[in-house]
Amino acid sequence: MPLTTITDLLATDLQAVNQTIIRCLESRVEVINKIGHYMIESGGKRIRPLVVLLSAKACDAKNDTPITMAAIIEFIHTATLLHDDVVDGSTLRRGRPTANRVWDNPTAVLVGDFLYSRAFQMIVSLNSMDCMRIMAEATNVIAEGEVLQLAHRYQPDIDESRYLNVIRFKTAKLFEAAAQLGAILANQPREIELTLAQYGMHIGTAFQLVDDVLDYQAANESWGKNIGDDLAEGKATLPLIYALKKAPEAQAKLIRQAIQHGSLEDLSVIQEAIVSTGAIDYTLAAAKKEIALAKEALAMLPSSRYKDAMLELATFAISRKN
Ligand code: IPE
Ligand code: IPE
Ligand code: MG
Ligand code: MG
Repeated sequence: MPLTTITDLLATDLQAVNQTIIRCLESRVEVINKIGHYMIESGGKRIRPLVVLLSAKACDAKNDTPITMAAIIEFIHTATLLHDDVVDGSTLRRGRPTANRVWDNPTAVLVGDFLYSRAFQMIVSLNSMDCMRIMAEATNVIAEGEVLQLAHRYQPDIDESRYLNVIRFKTAKLFEAAAQLGAILANQPREIELTLAQYGMHIGTAFQLVDDVLDYQAANESWGKNIGDDLAEGKATLPLIYALKKAPEAQAKLIRQAIQHGSLEDLSVIQEAIVSTGAIDYTLAAAKKEIALAKEALAMLPSSRYKDAMLELATFAISRKN
């Protein structure tokens, strides 16, 4: 299922989101404008803004606040990417050199801070304490997730539940906030707000599980990031955690050492191992379970083409190639 069926449905709103993004990027400092535009115009999928918009529209929102909120969520996402690429030492994103590569680490971190704080200026303009609370909580949890992940770096012994905890924090939380905020802006009762939050959390978890598979398996051109980035950073994601459990001793030893040293020397052997041990299938099955739960969470919503698009977005999260 191509993402365009969903983006076509929301074409006018997405255009408004992009205009808001461009307008709100504006800074008195030239390098901020440059990096801001470099990031924002580099072809991100805008999945999280889609979640805000779809959630609001499926709840029959009556005003334009979801447009601003969608832009805010994309700013936060972009800020986390700027920071994440510094932390991960990544050099390629969206098929282009990362900002830390084109400029440098300190500049990328500080422009990330600019985007974070600009997002909060924008939230204030919405004058909603509920929105403030959810964004404050979400950004705090994302930061915890990234730090937690760092604390597990170079450690082959992280187990599945700790890994799941990290991805719920670092990735799923923003999807959760996006979906919940859509409901809040549409003045929905608490029950609907929470069920949409569940939708976001499950879709976000699946999204990261698939990201972690693609990190080993994607076709380089469409992926736009370097294959093996996670291993190079000593990050034991579910494909590796599972392969380590199931691989014969010799292979397991290689995997363990690669994580400990953040080494890509044995990448192709490790790629074979995660296929032959069933680790890819296992990780994708875990993503599919999350997607089933995401779809279930929508049961309470009335039928609409926006609800249908939310179901399709859930499917996209696992079928995606980039
Ligand atoms: C990348 O997210 C970071 C993860 C949580 C895996 P996306 O894949 O949504 O990034 P862009 O914005 O489309 O490039
Ligand atoms: C997601 O983790 C990072 C954020 C939540 C910012 P990854 O490190 O896997 O994301 P990519 O692969 O760099 O996009
Ligand atoms: Mg990364
Ligand atoms: Mg990744």
